[in-house]
Amino acid sequence: MTTTAPLPLTATTTCPDLGPVFDGLWSEHGPVAPVELEPGVHAWLVMGYEELKALTGTPDLFSRDARDWKAFQDGTVPPDSPLGPMMFFRDNVIGYDGEEHRRLRRPLEDAIASVDHRRLRRTVESVCADLIGGFAGRGTADLVAEYAAAVPLLTIGNLIGLDPGQSRELLDAMRALFGSQEDSQDGNRRFEALLFGLAESRRADPRDDLTSLLLGHPDLRTEAEVLQSIVVLVSAGNHTTISWIAQTLRLVLTDPRFAGRVRGGRLGLDDALDEVLSVAPPMINMPARYALRDTELGGRAIARGDALILGLAGVAHDHRAHGGRAFWQSGNRAHLAWSAGPHACPARDPARTIARTAVATALHYLRDLRLTVDPAGLEFEPSPWTRCPASLPVSFTATHEAPGGRP
Ligand code: HEM
Repeated sequence: MTTTAPLPLTATTTCPDLGPVFDGLWSEHGPVAPVELEPGVHAWLVMGYEELKALTGTPDLFSRDARDWKAFQDGTVPPDSPLGPMMFFRDNVIGYDGEEHRRLRRPLEDAIASVDHRRLRRTVESVCADLIGGFAGRGTADLVAEYAAAVPLLTIGNLIGLDPGQSRELLDAMRALFGSQEDSQDGNRRFEALLFGLAESRRADPRDDLTSLLLGHPDLRTEAEVLQSIVVLVSAGNHTTISWIAQTLRLVLTDPRFAGRVRGGRLGLDDALDEVLSVAPPMINMPARYALRDTELGGRAIARGDALILGLAGVAHDHRAHGGRAFWQSGNRAHLAWSAGPHACPARDPARTIARTAVATALHYLRDLRLTVDPAGLEFEPSPWTRCPASLPVSFTATHEAPGGRP
């Protein structure tokens, strides 16, 4: 694919500052750069705005089905590769293109469209108030572990029909499952048992929730398809929304320009959230599309079976789209944090309601909020795909009054 050693993809997420890494990739390679996913496994990182639109908008040339990946077919990537959970074929909406994809996506779109945003906002406020109530009296907290990491799943749990105790159990099971420690198998079992139990109970007694809607949807043919649809809702929305909340809070706590504009009201919270989508999107890099034929993209010769990664953060450095100016100067909102084409995220509106309410609630209740560590020492969770702060240790004025009322 290339003669010089390609950059490991994790170098684009774990670096202290994204700017120099992506500017460097752009100036050396242009809109499509060679990268290494793990030792010996190469892929293309597509960062050009137009090239990303072509990549995501042409499924008959660039497939979403990882079984079309040559490195998977020829065993270069072993079945137990750490790339598996994010990159291997999924027998759900994520793994298919064409009519099968449209059939599996329609129920999810219908479920998401049924969400009542006022009710959703009240649910998020109550989830956030409970979490804040757990640490408000201490005057210190880790806003990732004790807040951002819990809000999306506790909220999505409510949307699919779990009660607060069951949503907590789901959160614990997911933590064990993704922690890759000894209890990860047990976490997986508890995760499946909870969702299976929920589907059973709603089949017998449908309610006003997304699980009941999916169970009754004419496009879903089997119980397994219903369960997979619930799993996608829970898993696709969790880490992405956690990152969005945590990155926004991190910028408020560490970037005086950003914080001043948010606190002074010059930057509305929606604009602040949009700025994060542009400069530090929840998915820095998104797996993947696979070339179905030899082709060309951004001046590169792409071979059949090559993997192409969506460079959703790299696109902010496409000076052809941004005129070489920073997001807040250019007024150009041309980010692709939600991707594009048939697989683009169907949940922008509820995701925004969750993220906006979580950030607003924290800033409203936690008076004199400040970081208690050197911002330069903040680390990110190791991942080639996301750049979520590992922790945000803060102090604030302790209070024993339970949060109440709207922020
Ligand atoms: C309530 C929260 C969310 C839910 C329920 C959700 C749901 C989904 C689902 C079901 C898909 C698969 C769509 C398909 O393959 O046809 C998807 C894809 C995606 N979502 Fe979300 N999402 C949420 C939040 C977010 C957030 C906060 C972001 C980042 C801003 C995001 C970015 C993406 C991206 C980049 C894709 C992949 C698109 C592609 O492969 O081209 N999502 N999401």
